[in-house]
Amino acid sequence: MYLDKILKDVKKKKELSTISDEFVQGIVEKHLRSNTKLKAFFEGHELKTLSRSTKYKEFIKKIRAELRKVYGVYAKENFEKRENFLREGRYVEILKSHLSTKERLDIYPQLYKKIWEITGKPKSILDLACGMNPFSLRYMNLEDVTYLAIDISKEDAKLINKFFKQEGVKGKAKVMNLLKIKEKNIFEKLPQFDVAFLFKFLDTTIIKSRKIGELLIKSIPAKWIVVSFSTKTIGQKEMKKANRDWIKKLCEKLGYEVKVLNFKNEIFYVIRK
Ligand SMILES: C[S@@+](CC[C@H](N)C(=O)[O-])C[C@H]1O[C@@H](n2cnc3c(N)ncnc32)[C@H](O)[C@@H]1O
Repeated sequence: MYLDKILKDVKKKKELSTISDEFVQGIVEKHLRSNTKLKAFFEGHELKTLSRSTKYKEFIKKIRAELRKVYGVYAKENFEKRENFLREGRYVEILKSHLSTKERLDIYPQLYKKIWEITGKPKSILDLACGMNPFSLRYMNLEDVTYLAIDISKEDAKLINKFFKQEGVKGKAKVMNLLKIKEKNIFEKLPQFDVAFLFKFLDTTIIKSRKIGELLIKSIPAKWIVVSFSTKTIGQKEMKKANRDWIKKLCEKLGYEVKVLNFKNEIFYVIRK
């Protein structure tokens, strides 16, 4: 079927190869829904010769570009390198391999200390759109914690699961598409957590951040939710709208308390539901 072919071709690029099929398919389908002519073209075309057509090539490029925006651009090292770092226990190298965690390296000890001062030390953490953040566990200074990490890459989930096992942490990493919150409560089957992290997710380019933000914040099963945003662009320039006041307004509307922690490159909103 042409859809399987598209998925396979999109994922031929190494840096995109670990993203879950379901996530890629969602993006492909979204594009085809808004371009029914192209969909009909793909459906009517012989599969064997499809990759030779310009329309097909351009479509694959477009999907890859979108995926790079939400995922690829942050993942600096490839999977094998991270596996080696994991085996050698070089977790800082893994943190350095992802832009978001790399930038946070200097602030991690202070950051978690400040968060726990507000929330109290948690016994359970839900890390949403986690990237490599679970590898910062040692900076959290927690004795006994249950950890659930969620992102869209199967390979990253495997890596994080190995890490939990290696470190004897009661943790699990799962693949879940947070954008599905538009359709249903994806957290229905999860238990309640003390603290949830939603670091640097709501600004990822393809999502309508405010609406998704509201849906997520309302349904995340945690007493405390820590939402963060970058205050610098990927090119390290100061952002024009570094403050996300809409988060504060949203919390006011929902009757949630919110405290702000400002760090060098990142702003954190600590929300109490
Ligand atoms: C900027 S990175 C932040 C990673 C991590 N939260 C941190 O701050 O260190 C954004 C992350 O969101 C993940 N992501 C993007 N779209 C997603 C979705 N629909 N569902 C779950 N995770 C997603 C990406 O794979 C990536 O790891």
